[in-house]
Amino acid sequence: MNLKEWARQRGVHPVTAYRWFREGKLPVPARRAGRLILVDQAPVSAVPEITAVYARVSSADQRADLARPYVVLSAATSIDGYIDDASSTRLVLSNPADLDRVDALRAASDAILVGAGTLRRDDPHLLVRSAGLQAERAARGLAPQPLRVTVTASGDLDPGLRLWHQEGTTLVYCPEAIAPRVRARLGDLAEVRGLGTVAVGTVLGDLGHRGVRRLLVEGGTTIHTWFLTAGLVDELQLAIAPFFVGDATAPRLVNPARFPFDREHRMTLAEVRSVGDMALLRYLLTRARPTAGPPPRQEDLRWMERAIALASRCPPSPRAFSVGAIIVDREGNEIAHGYSRESDPHIHAEEAALAKLPAGDPRLPASTLYSTLEPCAERRSRPRSCVQLILAAGIRRVVFACREPALFVASPSGVEQLAAAGVSMIELPELAGRASEPNRHLLGQLPPGG
Ligand SMILES: NC(=O)c1ccc[n+]([C@@H]2O[C@H](COP(=O)([O-])OP(=O)(O)OC[C@H]3O[C@@H](n4cnc5c(N)ncnc54)[C@H](OP(=O)(O)O)[C@@H]3O)[C@@H](O)[C@H]2O)c1
Repeated sequence: MNLKEWARQRGVHPVTAYRWFREGKLPVPARRAGRLILVDQAPVSAVPEITAVYARVSSADQRADLARPYVVLSAATSIDGYIDDASSTRLVLSNPADLDRVDALRAASDAILVGAGTLRRDDPHLLVRSAGLQAERAARGLAPQPLRVTVTASGDLDPGLRLWHQEGTTLVYCPEAIAPRVRARLGDLAEVRGLGTVAVGTVLGDLGHRGVRRLLVEGGTTIHTWFLTAGLVDELQLAIAPFFVGDATAPRLVNPARFPFDREHRMTLAEVRSVGDMALLRYLLTRARPTAGPPPRQEDLRWMERAIALASRCPPSPRAFSVGAIIVDREGNEIAHGYSRESDPHIHAEEAALAKLPAGDPRLPASTLYSTLEPCAERRSRPRSCVQLILAAGIRRVVFACREPALFVASPSGVEQLAAAGVSMIELPELAGRASEPNRHLLGQLPPGG
């Protein structure tokens, strides 16, 4: 049943029903089914008789945006910005430690995307190689190998390429018109998905609907340019090899183009690290807000979507909540993020994010902390609660999606304590259902009325 039908049956105007949905008075989306968003049964204050509602999201963009995965673009370059040389053999820029870094990135991703040019030139396997990382994925209930994805406009894909013959699934996006030909060529080696327009947003929307929360983009030049110019990369990881290529005909990191991140809009440098003899630079590509006032609600919702995606990365626990947290500075740049159990079995998401910033970081007082769950006010595993850490950091604005259920403490009071300390607390009930999804197994343990 869609929302309009549900409203008609109850004599409620569809616009009113939609407004209730937007205001969080109806249960929020739990999973998606094509054009419709399924809203699971839940106790609903305004409309108690609801058991299931399908709400139609208004525009294609909105649907794609709700579903869009977090995109990490990873590339290895020479000192002079080349990602290969012009010879007939593949240039290896990475050292063994960097190959391990890429393996870990792949293992942390739901899908890996490369362009057809890279397939033809490098014939990669696109696999998680480490047996340990494969086992960790399996322990998280994931397939040992992420989905492999490519795009082609020509359909020039050799069925002998290695990636088709590996464990796991491969997906090809191509224009609708050539899809039958590509299918005939590849047979059951891959799923071929024809699209009216092969645009980055369409591909990301489709991947999101398939459950891909985190996409790793691994080249080459055309694909880097495509994603970066579309402004649809969240994180750029650049591993720089300590040598020059020095050949103007070799492929560069990107083609000449107009990028959203130019000298007026700088990316946020999140990390600099040695990886053997290579330097890893990690940038966050969140577009700066033109004004420094509080972010509009739409932006809060967008950041909370990111925090929800982070929560899905928490190692599962039968005894603790899975939470995602992001700290965003006054210009609208992400400066840190974290998730539950990210670095040790007890660390909380807010704590993990704050730990990545130096104490007294001058950006913190004007930053917003986004957390999928109300910050804890009582803590057994650590001397300080997240409320205390937030106050000590000087953060004055916290956005959260769910109240803490009374499961591990009798009367959670994080929101009240922060508000009493003068922190501006913003609740996003419309995302509460999605944010509590990773904790569904715990909510079943709630005492009656809890
Ligand atoms: N150092 C690194 O980290 C790294 C990583 C990966 C790759 N590389 C290098 O990158 C180079 C390859 O780069 P490249 O630019 O030639 O190829 P590419 O970016 O891998 O792929 C480009 C191809 O993707 C398809 N494509 C792109 N946009 C599309 C769209 N909108 N719709 C449908 N299909 C689309 C087209 O395939 P069709 O031609 O089939 O239509 C296009 O030719 C190689 O030298 C490789 O070694 C380096």
